[in-house]
Amino acid sequence: MRLSRFFMPLLKETPADAQIVSHRLMLRAGLIRQQSAGIYSWLPLGLRVLTRIEAIVREEMNRAGAIEVLMPTLQSAELWRESGRYDDYGKEMLRIKDRHDRDLLYGPTNEEMITEIVRANVRSYKQLPLNLYHIQWKFRDEVRPRFGVMRGREFLMKDAYSFDIDAAGARRAYNRMFVAYLRTFDRLGLKSIPMQADTGPIGGNLSHEFIILAETGESQVFCHRDLIDMPVPPAGIDYEADLTPYIKERTSLYAATEEKHDPTAFEAIPQDKRLSARGIEVGHIFYFGTKYSKAMGAKVAGPEGQDVFLEMGSYGIGVSRLVGAIIEASHDEAGLVWPDAVAPFDIGLVSLKSDDAKTSASCLDLYERLQNSGKDVLYDDTDERAGQKFAVQDLIGLPWQVIVGPRGLAAGEIEVKNRKTGERRTMTPDAAINLLTAAP
Ligand SMILES: Nc1ncnc2c1ncn2[C@@H]1O[C@H](COP(=O)(O)OP(=O)(O)O)[C@@H](O)[C@H]1O
Ligand SMILES: [Mg+2]
Repeated sequence: MRLSRFFMPLLKETPADAQIVSHRLMLRAGLIRQQSAGIYSWLPLGLRVLTRIEAIVREEMNRAGAIEVLMPTLQSAELWRESGRYDDYGKEMLRIKDRHDRDLLYGPTNEEMITEIVRANVRSYKQLPLNLYHIQWKFRDEVRPRFGVMRGREFLMKDAYSFDIDAAGARRAYNRMFVAYLRTFDRLGLKSIPMQADTGPIGGNLSHEFIILAETGESQVFCHRDLIDMPVPPAGIDYEADLTPYIKERTSLYAATEEKHDPTAFEAIPQDKRLSARGIEVGHIFYFGTKYSKAMGAKVAGPEGQDVFLEMGSYGIGVSRLVGAIIEASHDEAGLVWPDAVAPFDIGLVSLKSDDAKTSASCLDLYERLQNSGKDVLYDDTDERAGQKFAVQDLIGLPWQVIVGPRGLAAGEIEVKNRKTGERRTMTPDAAINLLTAAP
């Protein structure tokens, strides 16, 4: 992409009402634009990041055996009356009437709708286990939308729902999601810690929140320090195998959110291993048994022919919140520092003199060769001053910068800068291509 043709509206001023660094940087670097409180447009740079996160979430869900569907944002109130949650949910639910005066709502979550789909289509235990998920916009009319995409009113969520014939099957489904979440957040460059959590309006008795430690996090959390750097299960993990060792390894060490905090258990941890910190909830998994299947009559024929209510769990990831969480975990004074896996482009190619024929020819050659080897390049072909171009590059935080100018070219060299380490090296264009296209 040529910057001169791209749409990347940057803000010069730091927006005064943005309280945390991720919100400030998302506005300054033109990732999002607020449309009303807690509701954002995703501008091209932001959308690229969001899409890449979504793709990783999808890959790990599929790998764990979940199957993608897409349910609508608007739901009928009737469904929610069946579960009893239409009245319980309160003001966070955005209620809408259509032209026939029928009650609709903008979905804050999808337990009811997915239960209806499975109830209508699954008749026998032989069709189980089943885990269906979608990645869809949700609306919750939060009392205090804040911190940009961290606590929005409209936000993108991946939500999965598992259906099993018995509690043991549901527990296996829960474990698969537990492992898939560890892998997903790791691939996004984040260290996530599963913590015992409250079940809130979803209900049920077993629940973990996946927390990213960050000073600006909204949750107060308590855990054993050894959980921070515990290695995650490998990509090739067999999801059909018994996953309990992976779960036990983590859940045998203390980790809880404020709502589930047990000071006695916490103080049993050796003092130097106790961690009391702030965190961001990026995922939340629940096992709630037959809460919805009983209320909504979702049952199947069991092995002996008798009707059995489905055992269910639900599993959310805050896809749009993750953009903010990744930035909280990875930025510096100069701006964003994207992990390779989610960067909006891999490389920023900077021409120091866009009216110089040799410089432009060299840039174009690099641009094409890098793109042909599968790299996404943002080519700054504008006629801004060099200093301004460097500031923009640092602000938008692409993993690599390739800087090309007439003086270097006269010596056959260009400059390559690693955004994260700040290391700059001069080398020939061929050496730069080799370095940048080498397998990660
Ligand atoms: N208002 C919000 N804005 C952005 N992301 C949200 C919001 N509410 C929830 N999420 C994300 O969706 C995930 C699943 O939500 P869930 O746990 O059902 O909601 P809650 O955390 O309010 O109980 C959360 O872990 C979080 O990452
Ligand atoms: Mg939650």
